[in-house]
Amino acid sequence: MTLDLDFVRAQFPALQGEWTFMDNAGGSQVLRTVAERVSDYLLTTNVQTGASYEPSRVSTARVSQSREAFARFMNCDPGEIVEGASTTILIRFLSEAMTGRLEPGDEIILTNTDHEANIGPWLRHEARGIKIRWWRCDPETYELDLEDLKGLMNERTKLVCVTHASNILGTINPIREIADIAHAGGAELCVDAVAYAPHRAIDVKALDADYYIFSVYKVFGPHHAVMFGKREKLLALDNIYHYFFDKSRVPHKLEPGNINYECAWGSIGAVDYVEDLGRRAGAGEGRGAIEAGFAAIAEQERVITERLMDFLRSRNSVRIIGRSSSAIEDRVSTVSFTAGEQSSREIVEAVDKARIGIRYGDFYAKRIVEEHGLTKTDGVVRVSMIHYNTLDEVDRLIAALEPAL
Ligand SMILES: Cc1ncc(COP(=O)(O)O)c(C=O)c1O
Repeated sequence: MTLDLDFVRAQFPALQGEWTFMDNAGGSQVLRTVAERVSDYLLTTNVQTGASYEPSRVSTARVSQSREAFARFMNCDPGEIVEGASTTILIRFLSEAMTGRLEPGDEIILTNTDHEANIGPWLRHEARGIKIRWWRCDPETYELDLEDLKGLMNERTKLVCVTHASNILGTINPIREIADIAHAGGAELCVDAVAYAPHRAIDVKALDADYYIFSVYKVFGPHHAVMFGKREKLLALDNIYHYFFDKSRVPHKLEPGNINYECAWGSIGAVDYVEDLGRRAGAGEGRGAIEAGFAAIAEQERVITERLMDFLRSRNSVRIIGRSSSAIEDRVSTVSFTAGEQSSREIVEAVDKARIGIRYGDFYAKRIVEEHGLTKTDGVVRVSMIHYNTLDEVDRLIAALEPAL
């Protein structure tokens, strides 16, 4: 299954400029259709939802269509979709909505490979006597060992929090196996899927995650985010909105202050786009098209990742931080490395001159960088590609990196 890259790139106006964008794990470029939908919402249906007059009915319907689109995208029911401003906010809200059920002595397992968005909100419960246990990765391979997780579980474990793909390592974690371990111990699973969602089809049913969150601005859309929660789990959460919202008001009790309507409507463009890619690859409608679209995306990403990996593996000074395989099941196309004692900042600034946007630092996954001595090189160099990047662009990156390493 191959992508029609001319078609793909034509959908993103920013790609017609002179810059190559390889900081996509920071945020992808946006589809023209998404921008048009945001504008259309604001210019034609910008009224408060929930009233009886006609424009408000249209606006209400548009927001509920966004829940249907995200449900298709993640393989769940629209009633299991909560929307919000960002993943950081949604996890923070989720954490707040669990306050009533977490009791002193209860335990939460966090990893040191996660972005702080799936760490900080949970640490806040420590002040109320909730114990945090750390699931740490191997210091050499950066792998999370499932046996270590089993060893951390006990009868007080209420929640396991983990990232689906690390935004530094690119490593894909075995979420279904982690879910099985968490559930066998009576705990729930909260997955940060921000670094995974632009790259692979999401099937929350198959993964059996209880809560699963990602940001749409990394998936070709606007600054908006989505959380799946199993229906009965969402119903059981505390109300974090006004006092007159009762527990049954899902998703509204978890969306205090309302969501951004134009971004909700705009985001549908991103789901439509992946479906369109799937249809172009010969699939039908809906889920099948989403899966086929992502299969084509994954293959394109594997090809460009392998070209970059090949170069990095050939350089003696370079250490790839994470898996050096580019296999579709192993990693996404986010690749980080260091070069001996060299400053990552200097390497990235040299590449800036070639009008290629990459990045250095800790990417708010600060714990993994600090605990593994990576601060002395100003963090890692991260090249985060997505399907619209081309082999030609990778070759230009390699040409820019070569003299800098
Ligand atoms: C893995 C991961 N999780 C969470 C976030 C935070 O997302 P947001 O900016 O939507 O809060 C990011 C942002 O870079 C991320 O890469």
